Amino acid sequence: MDGAAGSNYRHISVRRMCGALGAEIGGVDLSQPIAPEIETEIRRAFAENLVIVFRGQDLAPDRQIAFTRIFGPCEQHPLYRSAQIPDFPEILVLEHKAGQFFNGRNDIWHADITFAEAPPLGSVLHCRAIEEGYGDTMFANQCLAYDTLSHGMKALLDGRMAEHSSRVLIERNNAAAYNVPVTEMPPPVLHPVVRTHPVTSRRTLFVNPTYTERFENMTAAESKPILEYLYAWGTRSEVIYRHRWRVGDVVMFDNRCCWHYVVIDYGPDMHRRMHRTTARGDRPA
Ligand code: SIN
Repeated sequence: MDGAAGSNYRHISVRRMCGALGAEIGGVDLSQPIAPEIETEIRRAFAENLVIVFRGQDLAPDRQIAFTRIFGPCEQHPLYRSAQIPDFPEILVLEHKAGQFFNGRNDIWHADITFAEAPPLGSVLHCRAIEEGYGDTMFANQCLAYDTLSHGMKALLDGRMAEHSSRVLIERNNAAAYNVPVTEMPPPVLHPVVRTHPVTSRRTLFVNPTYTERFENMTAAESKPILEYLYAWGTRSEVIYRHRWRVGDVVMFDNRCCWHYVVIDYGPDMHRRMHRTTARGDRPA
């Protein structure tokens, strides 16, 4: 099994979800201020499991922001300006309902905002509406994907840089009615293809199926076969946890070493609403 099971916690319970990643955390009411010793254990559970799940929560926007700040400053999405909650620009509302088709559609494997120089540490998703069993979110552990590559492939990737661009996001969102169009595309950024996790020191794949355009000093056409191989490797069933949502779930995922994907298996009338907040990360190294 990758990562750690739920032992040695004094203030919370930690129940592993599957071999690859993910744990359900019990014994915490996130709507109340959280004691420092509990925060410390939550951060440890996050480092060990990469995705942490809290059930049955009811978080007002300010409490969701306070929870996110356990991990780092809470930051607004740099490009996405669809539904927000008045007075809480840090909260991005991802909502699908009758007459509002596929707002924030995310049935693509990706990590969030890796086109930024300092991509997010992680995001918090609070489920406010769902029809249980539909609209699951899958998470893929890229530390595990990297660990299980051959020595030859690791040697090919280690030390290499890749270009990440917001092009796909801007094109998609500008074509949709739900978002304020973005008129200026930020320049692409270079990130290491393999980064070291700043907390656990684990090595992780850091290419992005949505935002990586090519390897440095290579064309997109030359890069494509290797990138496609890594995307297939990084989304095998062995590295995935699939989260089945219930109203009240709070899920935090580690954006430095996980990809995610929303399963769009629901019809046009289903109501699915997530409140997303994001904790600031550092420059990948
Ligand atoms: C996202 O890609 O951040 C959205 C995840 C979700 O709606 O489950």
